[in-house]
Parts: sequence; C-alpha cells; structure tokens
Amino acid sequence: MANLVTESAKSRLNESNSQFDSYYRPRRLRSTQALRAMVRETKVDLNKLIHPLFLIEGSGKDKKNPINSMPGFCQQSIDSALFELENIQKSGLGSVILFGIPDEKDTQASQSYEETGIIQKAIRAFKKEFPELVVIADTCLCEYMSHGHCGIVCDGQVVNDASLNILAKAALAQAQAGADIIAPSDMMDGRVAAIRQTLDDNGFSNTPIMAYSAKFASAFYGPFREAAQSAPQFGDRKSYQMDPANGREALREVELDIMEGADIVMVKPALPYLDVIHATRQITNLPVAAYNVSGEYSMVKAAAQNGWIDEKKVVEEVLTSIARAGADLIITYHARDFANWTKAQA
Ligand code: PBG
Repeated sequence: MANLVTESAKSRLNESNSQFDSYYRPRRLRSTQALRAMVRETKVDLNKLIHPLFLIEGSGKDKKNPINSMPGFCQQSIDSALFELENIQKSGLGSVILFGIPDEKDTQASQSYEETGIIQKAIRAFKKEFPELVVIADTCLCEYMSHGHCGIVCDGQVVNDASLNILAKAALAQAQAGADIIAPSDMMDGRVAAIRQTLDDNGFSNTPIMAYSAKFASAFYGPFREAAQSAPQFGDRKSYQMDPANGREALREVELDIMEGADIVMVKPALPYLDVIHATRQITNLPVAAYNVSGEYSMVKAAAQNGWIDEKKVVEEVLTSIARAGADLIITYHARDFANWTKAQA
C-alpha cells in the first residue's frame, strides 16, 4: 500500500512539473498558526514537569545560598521553600523532587535515614502545608556521605550490598515522613528490589518507586554537585553509573528495574540520551521519566545570559524534544520558567 502511494506520487511528479498541486505538499498544514496547532503531535504538559529543590538546615524565609552555576536556583531552608512553593503551585506545577544537604556528613550517611534528617523534615512540612503537591524524594547517599560517593566505601571501593540496607532505610524514612514517590538515584544493583521489600514489609506497599534506571556517568551533573555539595572526594562514579556509550545496556538496566518492581523508569541525562528515552518507551508501558539535568540547564542559561539564544524558544524546543522522544515525565530546572511563560500566554 505504502509503495503504491509512493509510486503514484512519483509518476504524477514525473508527468509534468506543473502538476505539483496533485501530490502531497507538507507545507499545506503549516500555513497558519491554527493549522499548525491542530496537527501538532507533542505538547509539553505542566502536570508532567517536576521542579527540583535543594534544602538546607536552618530557618527563615530568606535563608538562601545562590548556586552560581545554576542561575535562579538556591540552596534554601524549609521555610524559604515553603514560601516559594505557593508560587510554584500557582504557576500550574504539581510536583517537586527534593535533594537534601545536611549539616553533618559521615561515612554511614546517617542523616539520610534519621527521622530528623533534612529531607524527612522537609517532606513533613511540605505535605502538611500542601497536601495536594506530589513530593518526590530523591533517594541517594552521596549528599550524606563525607566521601561523596553514592554507597558505603570499604578499602577505597563502593560496595554494593552493604549500601542497599542504608538506601532501604533512607527510603523507608522518606515514606514514613509522607513522600509520595521514592526515587532511588544511586545505581547500586538490586536497590529497587531492596527498597520495594522494605517498603512493603513496613506498610508502604502503596508508595511508588521512580527508579533512575539508566543513569549515565555524565559530565552534565557538574553544576548539581556544586548545588548538592556531593562531588566524590576521590575517584569518580564510573564503577556504578553507566558508560555513556552503552545504549543496549541501558535497556537491560530498565528491564531489571521493572522486574524488581519499579513503577516509573527514568533515563538521565535527557538531551544527550534521547535515543535511550525513545528505546525505553518502546520496551515498556510504564511511565517513562527523563531528567533534564543541571548541566543541560546551565548551558541554556549561560547562552541566554550572553544574548546568544532566545531562552524561551530554546527551552520550549528542549522540553518538546524530550517529550517527543517518549518521556511522560520530565524533571527540569526550567519547569518554573516554562510554567510562568505558559501562564502568561494563556
Ligand atoms: C545523586 C544525584 C545526582 C543528580 C541527581 N541525583 C548527581 C550525581 O549522580 O552525581 C544529578 C542531577 C543534575 O545534574 O541535575 N546521585
């Protein structure tokens, strides 16, 4: 059938150059804004954007440390975030993902699971004030470890199975504080199963897991590590995060997390891995999330501040391309701006 159509189009084209009007002209449907809107395939939906927050100890609505490499973002106290959340919700966004920066770091990441840990306190405060807000807890140990690695370190190595117990404890503490979704980002093997088991055993079988399934060892995380003060103090993360060259292995990671009980799978970063997002979409009917990471954000911001690009249009194109590749949910530092622009247009 497809062939016949092509053949007839070809023959009509060959008959005479003046018969252009009888074959398919893609420009027909591009001629007006209204037509373009009718045939537009992908639309970025505010309900699907997730806004990241970096939380520090202390109080006061003005307690903020600006993050130089991420214009518009600060480390902030719970009070300061509460103040901002009101506007975030008004702008039409419905969810946030939380990263905690504790005052005290140690080699057991104890602040990641203490009831009084910064994230547990923030979740309680946010859910109390904004019960409708979807609060996602990033579950990782790097921000809480004095050495900055995402797991327990023994003899200079990041050891897998010992790290699982702490991750599961941290996830449970977050669920107990009221987190709506647990999002493990550590890349230890078997963490989704370990967390699922611990949540289920403790009465949290209804708490979903959004797994950072295909998380690559990326240089695009640079600004985040300044923001979260989580840079590894020795070595790098290549023994647990994925090699950027491996697209097929990414799908094995996704499959594993699905088998272990993930409710949402994630690809991270987003733009340099659109092929992986697309391939992930093909192999699962679970929601697919993509993380448009700090370095992707900072590059856009830097170019915009120099007047080299039109920030609004670039952001719209970036988010649309991530959605078009197959992401349902997008974690992005552009969420707030995008929501405000969308509102201003409406
Ligand atoms: C924690 C974590 C990282 C990011 C999200 N969770 C940093 C890392 O793995 O080094 C990066 C997010 C970003 O760059 O925006 N493991």
